[in-house]
Amino acid sequence: MRILGLETTCDETAAAVVELKPGGGGLIRSNEVRSQIDEHAAFGGVVPEIAARAHVDMMDHLVRRALDEARCKLADMDGIAAAAGPGLIGGVMVGLTTGKALALASGKPFVAVNHLEAHALTPRLTDGVAFPYLLLLVSGGHTQLIAVLGVGNYRRLGTTIDDAIGEAFDKVAKMLGLPYPGGPQVEKAAEQGDPQRFDLPRPMLRRPGADFSLSGLKTAVRLEVQRRGRLIGSDIADLCASFQAAIVDVIADRTRAALRLFRQQFGAPSCLVVAGGVAANSAIRQSLQSFSTETGLKLVLPPPSLCTDNGAMIAWAGLERLQLGFGDGMDFAPRPRWPLDLSAERVHNGKA
Ligand code: KG4
Ligand code: ZN
Repeated sequence: MRILGLETTCDETAAAVVELKPGGGGLIRSNEVRSQIDEHAAFGGVVPEIAARAHVDMMDHLVRRALDEARCKLADMDGIAAAAGPGLIGGVMVGLTTGKALALASGKPFVAVNHLEAHALTPRLTDGVAFPYLLLLVSGGHTQLIAVLGVGNYRRLGTTIDDAIGEAFDKVAKMLGLPYPGGPQVEKAAEQGDPQRFDLPRPMLRRPGADFSLSGLKTAVRLEVQRRGRLIGSDIADLCASFQAAIVDVIADRTRAALRLFRQQFGAPSCLVVAGGVAANSAIRQSLQSFSTETGLKLVLPPPSLCTDNGAMIAWAGLERLQLGFGDGMDFAPRPRWPLDLSAERVHNGKA
């Protein structure tokens, strides 16, 4: 089975061809990603209208490149998958409409993929991991701890009640005058800083449940910046290091809480999987590695290129769904909000 996957929910336009390996897992035949970071950098964040226009400009080109790179034609596909949400509506419409048009023109089955499900199933593409497992999804738009029980079967154990972790990194970077996207900049500055100089809060630590809250931490950094007036010497590096240390503690505590909930409700997970752009942070990776050693739970960290938004994960989720006979019709509408766990309908801050 070979699938073309399209991704346009945020600021990456992506197309990829993935096929099923005989022993399970996936073979990525091509994975073309075009990031729009440069278009949005001047605005300090993703501008939906600019994103949608850039997707329109790039989509056809990327589909052609993905097929060429895979040495395939549309006729060689067994299905077309497109991310149908959650995300910015203008961008989602571009990928979804392109996917439907390609499916109609080629007579191939069409699958509408939940972008979060694609992140959640990525370790099965890369490492062939078995259900059930615990997923920590940490990106600019999402912060969730999810029990992945099967294709289409997810339970959200924790989410953020305000900002996403990547968003908090980006906002702190902005306060400190560092460029967008802020996560990698904060990490770099933190390498030279003293993580103990500023005593920042660790919101939600040891609270029941496995939810996150980042706004108090972000505000504490803002107050520190205001108190100082002008940042001099190692102030920026020390603030970055102290902020990152607080995030690392919060992630470890909330992941531990989620593992406890997982074991109570579903038994032993096969592994802990980390996905999303923030998973590129080496302090966070190191801390999760220690967590894995301490708990004996295997840690799976897909390569950064498959942790951030890409087309291969959409193609793979489409492949898993088609294998189970879950195709979709041409009337499938874009979904700006689309929680993975429909029983956890609590939607925070406009983010699913
Ligand atoms: O998954 P992603 O590429 O896009 C979505 O948000 O869907 O994640 C981007 C986010 C941004 O907020 C960025 O600042 C953050 O991931 N990020 C990092 C690092 N690299 C990217 N945060 C902390 N440390 C990093 N090294
Ligand atoms: Zn994503």
